[in-house]
Amino acid sequence: MADLAIIGGTGLTTLKNLEITRREVMRTPYGEPSGPLLHGKLCHQDVIFIPRHGRGHTIPPHMVNYRANIWALREAGVRDVIAVAAVGGIREDMLPGRLAIPDQIIDYTWSRRHTYFESELSEVTHIDFTEPYSEKIRNLLITAARDLNQQVIEGGVYAATQGPRLETAAEIDRLERDGCSIVGMTGMPEAALAREMGLEYAHCAVIANRAAGRGTGPISMGDIEENLTSGMERVRSLLETAIPHL
Ligand code: HPA
Repeated sequence: MADLAIIGGTGLTTLKNLEITRREVMRTPYGEPSGPLLHGKLCHQDVIFIPRHGRGHTIPPHMVNYRANIWALREAGVRDVIAVAAVGGIREDMLPGRLAIPDQIIDYTWSRRHTYFESELSEVTHIDFTEPYSEKIRNLLITAARDLNQQVIEGGVYAATQGPRLETAAEIDRLERDGCSIVGMTGMPEAALAREMGLEYAHCAVIANRAAGRGTGPISMGDIEENLTSGMERVRSLLETAIPHL
């Protein structure tokens, strides 16, 4: 049984070196996850992989069934989650192709099903979310990067926006004033749901582009794709270095 799950984001719909042993179709009280859970071995460790946007990358960020995905992972016995996510870089050092392990989140999403605690409760339930990410998983990723001599940016504030459109330049100015360093569309409610389920969860963010108004001219989808291709290669080697230490 796998303790660890990897949630793949845009650019990471497959894990090349994962030897898949089983595909598990799960049903949950919240509907269907983004696809079957892929059980397999990565670096001799049992791992479950699920691509957040579906195998063919067809589920947009606001339509992902985050509750079903996290529920399915917990049901499968997972305790640790590495969530890979493509982001735009707001802060100056958040340059395309780099990786970041954020330590805070601000949630700007709306009307997503964002909690398990909404009906049939014996009492109103709150979770502590002061530190939204697991220090254990963050440190694992940061240590792996140091071992590899690979640069990752340690820390940063992830702004979770609604999507699927990218932001306006003024919206990015506002996020910057709020203290955000990177921006993506899938970080919430995923991180909060993982906390509600008691999972250790952290983000491995891959910077795909300079955020709106931070580069020269419009954001090019071709450039995003190119940066994600090189960034995800780095993610793969980071995962393969980190996982044996779990
Ligand atoms: N904004 C939001 N989400 C993103 C971006 C961005 O610029 N790039 C990749 N995901």
